[in-house]
Amino acid sequence: NVMLSWQRTAYHFQPEHNWMNDPNGPLFHKGWYHLFYQYNPESAVWGKISWGHAVSKDLIHWLYLPFAMVPDHWYDINGVWTGSATILPDGQIVMLYTGDTYDAVQVQCLAYPANLSDPLLLDWVKYSGNPVLVPPPGIGVKDFRDPTTAWLTPDGYKWRITIGSKFNKTGISLVYETVDFKSYDMLDGYLHAVPGTGMWECVDFFPVSMTEINGLDTSVNGPGVKHVLKASLDDDKNDYFALGVYDPFENKWIPDDPELDVGIGLRYDYGKYYASKTFYDQITQRRILWGWIRETDSEDDDVLKGWASVQSIPRTVVFDQKTGNNIIQWPVSEVEELRSESVEFDNMKLGPGSIVPLRADTPSQLDIVASFEIVKEAFEGTVESNVDSSYSCPTSGGAANRGKLGPFGIIVLADETLSEGTPIYFYVTNGANGKAETHFCADELRSSEASDVAKVVYGSKVPVLDGEKYSLRSLVDHSIVESFAQGGRRVITSRIYPTKAINGAARVFLFNNATGVSVTASGKIWNMISADIRRFPFNQL
Ligand code: FRU
Repeated sequence: NVMLSWQRTAYHFQPEHNWMNDPNGPLFHKGWYHLFYQYNPESAVWGKISWGHAVSKDLIHWLYLPFAMVPDHWYDINGVWTGSATILPDGQIVMLYTGDTYDAVQVQCLAYPANLSDPLLLDWVKYSGNPVLVPPPGIGVKDFRDPTTAWLTPDGYKWRITIGSKFNKTGISLVYETVDFKSYDMLDGYLHAVPGTGMWECVDFFPVSMTEINGLDTSVNGPGVKHVLKASLDDDKNDYFALGVYDPFENKWIPDDPELDVGIGLRYDYGKYYASKTFYDQITQRRILWGWIRETDSEDDDVLKGWASVQSIPRTVVFDQKTGNNIIQWPVSEVEELRSESVEFDNMKLGPGSIVPLRADTPSQLDIVASFEIVKEAFEGTVESNVDSSYSCPTSGGAANRGKLGPFGIIVLADETLSEGTPIYFYVTNGANGKAETHFCADELRSSEASDVAKVVYGSKVPVLDGEKYSLRSLVDHSIVESFAQGGRRVITSRIYPTKAINGAARVFLFNNATGVSVTASGKIWNMISADIRRFPFNQL
């Protein structure tokens, strides 16, 4: 459908047609990044899932390859579902995935590349003894899926994986031990369990360094290491994580702060972002996060336009050494290869209620970096009059709702008259203790004139430390806006459906809708060229 074709992204990964969901088994092998993904070759809605496959030299430009796996055995005939890769010390690659059997039981299966010397890893062999795991007693046959990357136990030869599940309404992660990835022992107890969080899908479990800036390989543990445990909550379709300490001898992960536990505390992303998965890039020593950006329109529209969903720009993940209780996510630096001409703005003063257009040649493909300062006196003058500890982005009414110290930020994918537009902004209030509280929001209420798409305000509080400006970065790509606050301490991904603010007709603005303060804005906007995403040129070899 031509009418909707502008919605296709220009530098986010998406298949040529049809439905995609979770990223699967990301890895780096012989010069290529590999991405596998849940894919329905039949239509633009979820169905009988195969593993799509694409490769890239730089995580930005992609070449589509033939399917890696299709549903062709009794144990995965209903779908080749989500899984993860493990690279063994001798270079072998082990892929574990969930098969949905002919009678809809979720089982775990083993696959491996037929030919490790093939950089493209074109052929995958399913192990003849599949399935390697079936739901254990007491676990529902539909509550046992998405095995993680394996990590080594301290003895150095046994591997462990965890698999998400639930017991009544408690989300749990089961742990299995194996030496050969063919036979497994279930360990007693759980890696972790959180009451009330429901089914845990796509669990991810990995170490982060408290002292170094590089990422860590999955088996690393010891002093100065924390472990992130992430679960995708089936009940509310968001990815929640928590930081904690992993004791391999007790086989337990303990959250640093029980009030910020998995599923009740922090999210990777406060917008549309789900079923994410990290991998360790052994070449650049980064831990890289992939996530699925879902649609928020109707299935009918997805069928009309012939595709559904994109993958986020991959993000590096590190421990937030400054707050000590968070992680930092940041788009991989390779995305900056797409930056072309830029426009800078420096110390631009925005009085209360002002909107300033910014120039951009490719206004629906942008990388925007902006920081904002508010005059200290103005802030101090509102300490008593601006107390609002109940403010929250989702219930705030959005950027039209003016306060003393906010909202201020940018408006992207707007049209000339601002009848459409998506404000990405900060909103500062004073907590009861006289300390500032900062909220980072993305207001989609006027993102589209279409009536049948979800339009909400996303966001959360974000820590702003002493001496820090309010800073944001937004990657704008036609119908996707990925926004990062305070260097990556909070992230909000928007999937929006403008009808007027499309291609060259889109506009971008700086704004300050606060009533009580002037804001000074500095930053830079880059026009982004399109990524090259196409079929692998086999016929030209
Ligand atoms: C998450 C998920 C996984 C499952 C896959 C099926 O989106 O439901 O739990 O393995 O998608 O496509």
